[in-house]
Amino acid sequence: MRDAPIGVFDSGLGGLTVLQSLTDLLPGEDLIYVGDTARYPYGDRTTEQLQRCALAIATDLQAAGAKLIVIACNSATAAALDLVRERIRVPVIGVVAPGLRAAAATSRTGRALVIGTRMTVESGIYAHTVADLQLDLEVATLACPGFVEMVEAGRTEGPSVVRTVRERLAPMLTSRVDTLVLGCTHFPLLARPISEVVGRGVTLVSSADETAFEVRDLLERTGWLRDRSTQGAIRVLTSGSPARFRTLGERFLGVPLTDVQAHAFPELDDLVSADR
Ligand code: DGL
Repeated sequence: MRDAPIGVFDSGLGGLTVLQSLTDLLPGEDLIYVGDTARYPYGDRTTEQLQRCALAIATDLQAAGAKLIVIACNSATAAALDLVRERIRVPVIGVVAPGLRAAAATSRTGRALVIGTRMTVESGIYAHTVADLQLDLEVATLACPGFVEMVEAGRTEGPSVVRTVRERLAPMLTSRVDTLVLGCTHFPLLARPISEVVGRGVTLVSSADETAFEVRDLLERTGWLRDRSTQGAIRVLTSGSPARFRTLGERFLGVPLTDVQAHAFPELDDLVSADR
């Protein structure tokens, strides 16, 4: 198992923020990343649709030999983490609990705002997980439609992005939270405009680093940690355009992505987004 890759997936480019933390913390591990770009935004989908997507992708990652699967997507974690854990033989890690642990460690006031997709906010997953983990943290949530689309279009800065971010975050600007949880893995790619809007008094927290720590702990516990000095390989499979994924992925990650291939999920063809 030790030499097997770690599987990671998201609706598109957002999960690369988690992949980056994994490569920083666990450079020797091989990674297979699935970006389900043909079906983003996941945040506008139903629970049943996301369960189908998550199960199909996790099944393929398991078949590709993954020793562990990271659902690098809050929306899919909210809709499908329990189900995927039931159906898949290898361990499965989501991003909601790690993000909350990071927020609890960061907040001085014990009050945090989580921004995410409509699916994530409506699922109530953050409040449930705070209760499950017995964290001393009060969380409010706010849906930010449109943010994922900006990232997938490669628009992560500039006046029109700042304007959209300001409009969406306006309801929180008068609240007294000191910690803003980026409860969608696409949102760290908008960290610059978001901090410009919320100001220096609010600390932005993402789940990426904490998720990577959770992966490392699990691999250490199981004896599956691949501890070697050579850099692991990154293989990307996308249901959208590989050329486009590669261009934007390299821009966001800052490293070359030399192995990006098309990967179809025929059982999900009825869910391809209209504008793809
Ligand atoms: N990056 C995902 C999340 O964390 C999904 C975004 C989307 O496709 O709507 O929620």
